[in-house]
Amino acid sequence: MIDSDTFKVGMRQLAGHVCVVTTADASGVRVGLTATAVCSVSADPPTLLVCINRQNASHGAIRAAGFFAVNVLALDDRALADRFASGVGGEARFSTGRWSHDITGAPILDSAMASFDCRIAQAVDVETHGILFGHIVGVRVRTDDAKLLLYAHGQYGGFASLPSLNTADSLWIPNWNSRADPSDRS
Ligand SMILES: Cc1cc2nc3c(=O)[nH]c(=O)nc-3n(C[C@H](O)[C@H](O)[C@H](O)COP(=O)(O)O)c2cc1C
Repeated sequence: MIDSDTFKVGMRQLAGHVCVVTTADASGVRVGLTATAVCSVSADPPTLLVCINRQNASHGAIRAAGFFAVNVLALDDRALADRFASGVGGEARFSTGRWSHDITGAPILDSAMASFDCRIAQAVDVETHGILFGHIVGVRVRTDDAKLLLYAHGQYGGFASLPSLNTADSLWIPNWNSRADPSDRS
């Protein structure tokens, strides 16, 4: 096996979405954390998973509540990514942003690119983390032209699309060894 530092060096090459995963207890006290380990699992029934370190306070709170929401952050909510991973804990993390709730009662961020309201279908502990599978009972999608916040190489950034590959020009693969002039395709 490799060591954990080498694991992290490799994993920093995975670009990901940035989510705030939230829940609330029976008296309405909210908790949440920043998480990139969120993955689509199944469309039928609609299911996703989130991996949360079992030492994080949010893990126990989400397990106890039995529901959670995954809020996919927009570029202009980058400050929330920092806040929900900071030393500030509990309710104080929710002091910025507009929050509501949908079906389960988990906090939904109104400005999220998408929010998935989930009930825990299954929970599996693997090493340091709990993998929580959520059945998605509600989804909200932001419809303006807001941009996604991404995380890669240990930094936040945005998405830039490349030109389409659907043209004859771009499908041509140059043979650099045999041609100096890429416009010569004879
Ligand atoms: C970009 C980013 C992604 C993160 N992804 C995860 C993750 O997928 N799972 C996790 O358990 N912690 C993740 N963390 C760490 C938690 O957000 C952080 O430990 C947080 O303070 C935990 O809060 P809590 O102890 O109140 O639950 C991430 C942090 C950052 C900055």
